[in-house]
Amino acid sequence: MKKHNQLNILISGANDGIGYYMVESFLKQGHNVFVLDVKIDNLQHLSKIYDENKLMYVQCDVSQENQVEESIEHAISTFKKIDYMIHNACLCTFASFNDTQIETFKKVFDVNYYGAVHLIRHILPLFEKQNKGDIFVTSSGVGIMGFKNISPYSSSKGALESLVKCLNLEYKHTNISFHIIHPPLTRTASSKGLTVPNEFMAKPEVVGYGLSKRIHRRKWIITFTRRNRFTVFLMYLLPISMGKLLSSMTDKYAKRQ
Ligand SMILES: NC(=O)c1ccc[n+]([C@@H]2O[C@H](COP(=O)([O-])OP(=O)(O)OC[C@H]3O[C@@H](n4cnc5c(N)ncnc54)[C@H](OP(=O)(O)O)[C@@H]3O)[C@@H](O)[C@H]2O)c1
Repeated sequence: MKKHNQLNILISGANDGIGYYMVESFLKQGHNVFVLDVKIDNLQHLSKIYDENKLMYVQCDVSQENQVEESIEHAISTFKKIDYMIHNACLCTFASFNDTQIETFKKVFDVNYYGAVHLIRHILPLFEKQNKGDIFVTSSGVGIMGFKNISPYSSSKGALESLVKCLNLEYKHTNISFHIIHPPLTRTASSKGLTVPNEFMAKPEVVGYGLSKRIHRRKWIITFTRRNRFTVFLMYLLPISMGKLLSSMTDKYAKRQ
């Protein structure tokens, strides 16, 4: 694998799941990482292996702009320069549209979409000063294709897709770029409510490690393998057909259970 200079990376939602393994892999690659998450227990274990100058973490709810602002100020005063900002935190709920209260839509958007807006707003002044920086937001295939019984999550990811497109156009003539991370279906707390066979789900450590290596290519779309890149390409090309296919596959599986 190509060696990269030591980078300073800020990431939200990495106490668990895919994000946690991205952090572990970044640390093994020699980078410095600053994590924002509501819980920090798993990171405390990780910090026993890596010294406090390499792994830093703060409790921060990304839906609260004041907490994000304070955490980013802390990260900037620690690292001085930041190379990547990754919004990975998410909230995913499982229920039909009819059974979903408006408050749930707001809560999900507050974390997934407005969390990204808060992080981007407060990291951009530094990136503009540095005249350099990469911003990554973790999306999902369901944000392109849709899926049953997760409309708040799915539409918040769709909104993120649009946000990144807008910002890439606005920042076209700068050295600041915006990217979308597309993990595959992965066995984590957030995907527990999906009626998808376990064998169709990747392991979070495989996905986290894969993404943390391929992220350095700084492509528009980041996937964990080349094969997964092809699947994501099909989702963008044929969103409606792919959405119908995935839904009918999961319906068939649910009936067999
Ligand atoms: N798993 C999949 O199949 C899949 C597929 C496509 C895309 N993704 C995306 O991949 C990313 C990682 O997902 P994952 O599956 O690894 O989920 P996960 O295991 O649930 O991890 C999400 C992390 O975000 C944290 N978080 C939740 N709300 C937060 C808030 N308000 N502020 C700060 N942190 C918060 C969670 O903390 P708690 O543990 O305390 O809730 C957790 O540490 C997400 O953006 C997700 O949408 C996942």
